[in-house]
Amino acid sequence: MVSQIEFQDRMLSLGLARVSEAAAMASARLVGRGDEKAADQAAVNAMREQLNMLDIRGVVVIGEGERDEAPMLFIGEEVGTGEGPAVDIALDPLEGTTLTAKDMPNALTVIAMAPRGTLLHAPDVYMDKLAIGPGYPEGVVSLEMSPAERVRALARARGCQDRDITVCVLERPRHEEMIADIRSTGAAIRLITDGDVAGVIHCAEPEKTGIDMYMGSGGAPEGVLAASALKCMGGQMWGRLMFRNDDERRRAAKAGITDLDRIYSRDEMVTADVIFAATGVTDGNILAGIRREPDFLETETLLMRSKTGSIRRMIYRNPINHE
Ligand code: FBP
Repeated sequence: MVSQIEFQDRMLSLGLARVSEAAAMASARLVGRGDEKAADQAAVNAMREQLNMLDIRGVVVIGEGERDEAPMLFIGEEVGTGEGPAVDIALDPLEGTTLTAKDMPNALTVIAMAPRGTLLHAPDVYMDKLAIGPGYPEGVVSLEMSPAERVRALARARGCQDRDITVCVLERPRHEEMIADIRSTGAAIRLITDGDVAGVIHCAEPEKTGIDMYMGSGGAPEGVLAASALKCMGGQMWGRLMFRNDDERRRAAKAGITDLDRIYSRDEMVTADVIFAATGVTDGNILAGIRREPDFLETETLLMRSKTGSIRRMIYRNPINHE
């Protein structure tokens, strides 16, 4: 019998925080420099280097792209020392490359880890997403409802007026109809230019962020990362993959997806316990961005485990030119 090494998420999670910290620190010099590619590359290099120090037999299931388009952290790349538990890794070394290049809020480095075979292998296509925070009855809103119906249902469940609900939406021409429908209820909309992992996470702490619900289409890989975070923080999320052409359907087939219309719940995207780390790159509602001082860099990291619901916020001060 092959001996399975248990997924020791308690200790591994601390290593995961180092991985997301390293990616954030590497992109620090590139905040506000107008160079998205350089910022992303710096984060990718640092994340990969740190990840390869962890005692895991990791496979990247959500990464920088398919092997032929991403030389590092591509889907299927094996990471870690090769000793330790077999795990799936979902990552985005820089979630919000444009936000970083323009020094706009809520850019993050993000990584999630779970036992092998338990994270949805979402292809790089769009996903229609819907998320709310904890404390609501299961299925109070759904992807089948219209945007306005979702607002009304959530307001009823919260015991407030429709106008007291705030929905977060990516500002894109493809969302114009959805935005008009939400506005017809009187609800407020927080438009974001990028970064829907942060957008979804914001639903988990509405008292802090002012956001009650996230909806709209964005990257499917980001959807799995967001589902991992909500599984740790509490909250409901659904996603449906969207295909615009045959190439995108081919990507789904390659990822082993056969039912193209399926709606995935949070726990169908992340089927076992997961650990999640995110480090702020630019200041945001959930995490402070990197602070650069002459002698040190300081980062803030959110480190969470779904098994226990534990949430750590870790401040890391990294001396520069330490003797
Ligand atoms: P990057 O990290 O690649 O810059 O992605 C940012 C992002 O805004 C995601 O958060 C979101 O899921 C996706 O892009 C939306 O895609 P599009 O810009 O095509 O609408």
